[in-house]
Amino acid sequence: MKGHKILIVGGAGYIGSHVALAFQEAGATVVVLDNLSTGRRENLQPGMELIEGDLQLPGLLADLFRGHFDGVIHLAAQKAAGESMVKPELYSRQNLIGSLNLLEAYAKQPQSRLIFSSTAAVYGNPVRLPMDETHPTAPVNFYGFTKLAIEGYLDWYGRLRGMQFAALRYFNAAGYDALGRIQGLEKNPQNLIPVVMEVAKGWRKNLQVFGNDYPTSDGSGVRDYIHVSDLGRAHVAAYRRLIETPGNLTVNLGTGKGYSVFEVIEETRRVSGRPIPHEVVPRREGDPPEVYASAQLAKETLGWQARESDLSNMIESTWNCYKNLP
Ligand code: WQD
Repeated sequence: MKGHKILIVGGAGYIGSHVALAFQEAGATVVVLDNLSTGRRENLQPGMELIEGDLQLPGLLADLFRGHFDGVIHLAAQKAAGESMVKPELYSRQNLIGSLNLLEAYAKQPQSRLIFSSTAAVYGNPVRLPMDETHPTAPVNFYGFTKLAIEGYLDWYGRLRGMQFAALRYFNAAGYDALGRIQGLEKNPQNLIPVVMEVAKGWRKNLQVFGNDYPTSDGSGVRDYIHVSDLGRAHVAAYRRLIETPGNLTVNLGTGKGYSVFEVIEETRRVSGRPIPHEVVPRREGDPPEVYASAQLAKETLGWQARESDLSNMIESTWNCYKNLP
């Protein structure tokens, strides 16, 4: 890994910056391409080069790939499932066309290897749990569809252009770097944990719990939360695997364990010492009761498993980024 030059597309974002940090810690030279629409410059570490731009500029990409990269990690995307159902054109342009521009520019390079940020949303509603990589893929939102479609293009670019790839299907990303090296809050968060943090800070009046009548331990929704630092390590492990072993990978990144909404609320109350006012409202359309991964294939093929993804650690490391803000 030492001296490998890695391009991280979307590397100024919440997950991307943790992936960039993991590659830098593994000895790689990190170059970040980001349009800073949601990413933050301050999420980057000293020594990282930032190229401000985005995937809608084939000319910029052509120039960029005149230089050599040993690997490309592609995390740039719009990722709000709900929003994707009302703005499919935005998600087509940003996620699909953006990715195709990237593939076209990069596949010209001999020995191209790409790691793609995919998502458990490609599966849609669980038909069995834990969800392993053979689970049917039937996305129930347009965001998940775009990610599955891009996986399909990767497969064909693999066949026709010899591009080697790993598609990593994240479950629910959470937490922040334990050493506080990344503190940038997501802009306009929709996900549970940042919303709970905003309630703890008093920036939001209360949390709406989308249903407490699910067939789960306490009636609220259960999800497989995975620490972004664990995700970062998984990307490095996937890159090492691509270098060492021919062939492609499609792997879930989760813990195999789920936490409920009420457990997240209770842990945030304990860690922050703040009340978390909340009200139960009707279920959100499209929400499955319970989602959690089988992490077996990642363990077997990447020698990776989550180790920072216990709930207290994810909540404490996140609260660290909020607690001192006004
Ligand atoms: C988690 C739980 C909600 C907000 C989404 C995308 C998925 C991926 C991760 C990108 C659920 C409950 C939430 C709130 C609540 N994104 N909730 N009140 O829906 O599991 O997955 O983010 O890859 O593609 O679909 O995450 O954080 O929205 O919800 O009760 O204000 O919290 O019902 O049970 P989700 P989430």
